[in-house]
Amino acid sequence: MASAIRATMPMRMRANVGTTAIRRTAGSQVRMSAPKPCRAYSTSPQGGNSGGSPASGNNVIIGVGVLAAAGLGFYFYNQEGKKDILGVGAGRAENKLTGSKGKANPANGIGSFQDYQQVYNDIADRLEHNPEYDDGSYGPVLVRLAWHASGTYNKEDKSGGSNGATMRFAPEANHGANAGLLAARDFLEPIHAKHPWITYSDLWTLGGVAAVQEMGGPKISWRPGRSDKEQEHCTPDGRLPDGDKGSDHIRFIFYRMGFNDQEIVALSGAHALGRCHTDRSGFEGPWTHSPISFTNEYYNLLFNEKWSFRKWGGPKQYQDKSTGGLMMLTTDMALVQDSSFRKYANQYAESEDKFFEDFSKAYAKLLELGVPEENFKKFETALDGGRPFQFKSTAEQEIEQSKK
Ligand code: HEM
Repeated sequence: MASAIRATMPMRMRANVGTTAIRRTAGSQVRMSAPKPCRAYSTSPQGGNSGGSPASGNNVIIGVGVLAAAGLGFYFYNQEGKKDILGVGAGRAENKLTGSKGKANPANGIGSFQDYQQVYNDIADRLEHNPEYDDGSYGPVLVRLAWHASGTYNKEDKSGGSNGATMRFAPEANHGANAGLLAARDFLEPIHAKHPWITYSDLWTLGGVAAVQEMGGPKISWRPGRSDKEQEHCTPDGRLPDGDKGSDHIRFIFYRMGFNDQEIVALSGAHALGRCHTDRSGFEGPWTHSPISFTNEYYNLLFNEKWSFRKWGGPKQYQDKSTGGLMMLTTDMALVQDSSFRKYANQYAESEDKFFEDFSKAYAKLLELGVPEENFKKFETALDGGRPFQFKSTAEQEIEQSKK
């Protein structure tokens, strides 16, 4: 029911609302009082004289006075400066050491929470900028980019994962599984141009977080700290799953990343979003009736709809009996055919809250695969008690703004 209501609302309104938030539009974040403009004074004294006239004696006195005043001014200015470090502003100096509370420096690739919230907002503001694109939102393809950038991880040798954004390079960008993800990378390019300090690895994963939240999904905890790597770190082809295979294949792929059955089923619920494209994977169609709304409809359809093989010239896929307009992959059907998977799929069909809770944890874990823990320690989130960031959705920010 909740999802049915959400699906009829404009995307912004469907997005998570709850805690208080402040809408931070471009340029409004971390706004401090602007420095007063420096007033330029003319230096030529009115009626100024030179030489040994009586006026010159006065000038000497005035000159000494001016020097004394300047000296006093400098003294007091210096005291203010010291106060700033040792007294009132001591906290600020300390923050520089701990990196907390907005003292991070994007110029060094280290942003503050507000810097990342601004990146989030800029992504959110662009999601629906092109109504011609698919179902009207780039959200689904951003969720897939973040997943494919992270899902190459191998826990045995710690290669792959989200730390590197190696899909920027031809070998990995051209892997069959990544077909179509150029749309997501291109979408994020203007965001990177506006915030050039952020790494692509952080940006792509943050894109996935923003997309899930803005499409009405759960909050996803996220930590910055990924660094981009060069071409030689591209992972070999074949690390991502094939849609035409069964549960053994799914386990082989996801166990390699370090996930268990419950996490596999939770992550697969992302197929509530988006669609298959014949010119990308060869498959065709959306999984659900609301492909730009994050819900548990995917699991409900798996259980409650009748699925049969679609008769067509394309690869093997399933089709719903009711409308013929929805699809499932062989790997999707495995979630109700395999008894261990089925148990979790059933839980998520019955409770959207449970699905949201488990998806949130599993997706956050996915987006951190392959990132050494010390990478996170450079950033304020780790230094500030180790709490990951949770971004405010634009809907939350709008509500907060309207209350002001
Ligand atoms: C067994 C595991 C999985 C398989 C075989 C699989 C396969 C696929 C395929 C074939 C597509 C269609 C691509 C296209 O033609 O555009 C797709 C799309 C998608 N996948 Fe998966 N996927 C899996 C798991 C996941 C996971 C874990 C996530 C995220 C957590 C995810 C998120 C998405 C999204 C959001 C789309 C829609 C993209 C769009 O609309 O452009 N998938 N997936």
